[in-house]
Amino acid sequence: MSRIEISKVNKYYGEVHVLKDLDLVVEDGDFMTLLGPSGCGKTTTLRVIAGLEAPRSGTLRIGGQLAADGEVSFNLPPAKRGVNLVFQSYALWPHMTVFDNVAFGLQIKKAPKPLIKEKVTGALGRLHIAEFAERYPSELSGGQQQRVAIARSIVSEPRVLLLDEPLSNLDAKLRIEMRSELKRLHQELKTTVVYVTHDQVEALTMSTKIAVFFEGRLVQADTPKGIYGNPVDIRVADFIGNPKINFIGCECSRDGDTMVVDSVLGRMALGNVASRNARFGSIGVEPASCGAASILAVRPEHVHVGREPSPGAVRCRIYSALPAGSETLIQAAVNGDTIMAKVIGQAEFGQDEEAWLSLQQDKLNVYDKASGRIALGALA
Ligand SMILES: Nc1ncnc2c1ncn2[C@@H]1O[C@H](COP(=O)(O)OP(=O)(O)O)[C@@H](O)[C@H]1O
Ligand SMILES: [Mg+2]
Repeated sequence: MSRIEISKVNKYYGEVHVLKDLDLVVEDGDFMTLLGPSGCGKTTTLRVIAGLEAPRSGTLRIGGQLAADGEVSFNLPPAKRGVNLVFQSYALWPHMTVFDNVAFGLQIKKAPKPLIKEKVTGALGRLHIAEFAERYPSELSGGQQQRVAIARSIVSEPRVLLLDEPLSNLDAKLRIEMRSELKRLHQELKTTVVYVTHDQVEALTMSTKIAVFFEGRLVQADTPKGIYGNPVDIRVADFIGNPKINFIGCECSRDGDTMVVDSVLGRMALGNVASRNARFGSIGVEPASCGAASILAVRPEHVHVGREPSPGAVRCRIYSALPAGSETLIQAAVNGDTIMAKVIGQAEFGQDEEAWLSLQQDKLNVYDKASGRIALGALA
């Protein structure tokens, strides 16, 4: 029982409004990642959940129990919340062995020695560092130290595990390895995890849900698939995906259940508007209407570039073709715009060669330019 319910939370540092009307539910057993650029309020949200910061207004419930209520300045002390927080800097005690670092919390609680031994050995085993139990932190690599910090956080079997950019001090190879370890750990322990990162790949690979923040506001809370395929806000579309999503200015008009889209790629009639937009209701988003100033968004893997004309394809010129082993990135110039395509495998195109470009129409999203809100979604 560790559902977290954040309701209408506002948080200020002095005059600075850091969290704005935050509503977020983390279901029991979720791996929820808070994602967004630096300074958007991720760490603050985590600290509010942990009880290290108090909201000015709004409420927080953990496992049905009220943990904070800004209106009446109620704040359950951190130690009574059943949550455990791991910081980016792992803060191990240098004068203690790995075993003692992990055992410390249980020793403070005066747990019986045999129980401590069993739990610590279990936690070290899960993180594959049992053989380092008698070493000191300085005798371990950065990745091994991070594993110790995580072992320390799970040994007391918290209801909720809060992780603040725990992998950002590791090198690229270790980071990828630890993603698998954390994902496996979550599935084994079935603990609710709230994980903070600014790294979209980390978020997409590990999470069951992702909450994207900009400037203290939650913009979209959704599955990784929903965040990637149906960003509800143009900032989310821009933030997620590498290479970046293409934006193409367009004009839209609605004709019954069809959206007619005019752009440098000509006219497209995108049917089934109702079913394309059906999922937004379930995540609490009302699609915008769109008109003369709209933006068409298409991911590079949904752009096709071929040598022969095909129905719906427009003539383009290859600006650059960048083979990268398993894939090729192609920049194509079309009527004054440049569009990036990603093709699996090796695509042999010469510079300035003429080619034909088309889009996978069911994967397009369209945004209202003024508000940046989704107007037409891609089919899942
Ligand atoms: N202790 C503090 N005092 C004043 N401002 C703070 C404090 N901590 C964070 N902030 C400000 O609050 C905003 C959100 O910070 P934070 O939650 O740490 O962002 P993130 O973790 O997403 O990078 C930032 O503008 C930051 O400068
Ligand atoms: Mg932070």
